[in-house]
Amino acid sequence: MSEPVQTPQTFTPRIFSGIQPSGGLTLGNYLGALKRFVEKQGQGIETIYCLVDMHAITVWQDPEKLRQQTREGAAAFIAAGIDPARSILFNQSQVTAHAELAWIFNCVARMGWMGRMTQWKDKTAGKNAEAESLGLFAYPALMAADILAYKTTHVPVGEDQKQHLELTRDIAAKFNHDYKVNFFPITEPVIEGAATRVMSLRDGSKKMSKSDPSDQSRINLTDSAEAIAAKIRKAKTDPEPLPETLEGLKDRPEARNLVNIYAGLAGRTAEDVVAEFAGAQFGSFKPRLADLAVSVLAPITTEMNRLMADPAEIDRILGEGAARADAISRPILEQVYDIVGMVRSRR
Ligand code: AMP
Ligand code: TRP
Repeated sequence: MSEPVQTPQTFTPRIFSGIQPSGGLTLGNYLGALKRFVEKQGQGIETIYCLVDMHAITVWQDPEKLRQQTREGAAAFIAAGIDPARSILFNQSQVTAHAELAWIFNCVARMGWMGRMTQWKDKTAGKNAEAESLGLFAYPALMAADILAYKTTHVPVGEDQKQHLELTRDIAAKFNHDYKVNFFPITEPVIEGAATRVMSLRDGSKKMSKSDPSDQSRINLTDSAEAIAAKIRKAKTDPEPLPETLEGLKDRPEARNLVNIYAGLAGRTAEDVVAEFAGAQFGSFKPRLADLAVSVLAPITTEMNRLMADPAEIDRILGEGAARADAISRPILEQVYDIVGMVRSRR
């Protein structure tokens, strides 16, 4: 006989977040996610960060590139300041609780919930949705499993993930309700800072993305100082100087984006940046932004390259992180199996 399931009323604070190794990381990933992951470290709350390789294969990935990008993602985390001794850093496929809990959540979540996800709708817009993978449709249930396998209470993400976090809350609530338990926390998204939605440098209405076909649209964490400066110099703007207040940037998405990027990189508010540069032309603002971007990103790129020279060491770090992640998620998953009514006789 197994132990009766505990149903605690309160949950120990725990932070989890993930990034897909489906391409090189961008400035959007850095400001919207990585930089904030680093800030959460050492505040007395456990921090768990994951390269979600199983999410990546919801669309086709070349196997060799996927392996390379996963290691590069790990190097980016460490270079940006994630300390594998203070945080748990691993790749998703090495901890089987993610896939196992995702199956259970596939049976909790409803088809209609998935169909309403804007990321699904965007990714299938103008395409034949019937030809997409079943995994791409079910993607948010795997994301909920990533989060809830650790009973995570707080998830730092960029603005684009808000709806997926709401779905995670719906899945937790439905599970708790259906099985009459208070087992999973209702997780809080943490979307904060000046750059929670970094836009394309070519089009202020599109998010900066590693999957954008134009390399000019994004700054990659692997770009050289020259490439960063050139991309910022060529970034789309308008002919007006910078206004006195943020209000003046309301209908100027490209200008607003560059101000947000400056603020994000400098760790300041957008208001503050506009006040400093009020009346400045982009001809003078852009070189200042480029210098700031290079001063923040160049040391990260250098450290990434150094780490990438020793892939065996990266694999060792990921393996160690996976063992620690497994030690937390395995007992939680066993309790879930008990709650759901699975016979567990081999323990
Ligand atoms: P992804 O690259 O889609 O796996 O995203 C990983 C993390 O980076 C998530 O928290 C995203 O919200 C965040 N992120 C991705 N692109 C951006 C962007 N352009 N601006 C801000 N955050 C972003
Ligand atoms: N879906 C997220 C993205 O594309 C990545 C992700 C997967 C994630 N699992 C997660 C983010 C769990 C936060 C928590 O950006």
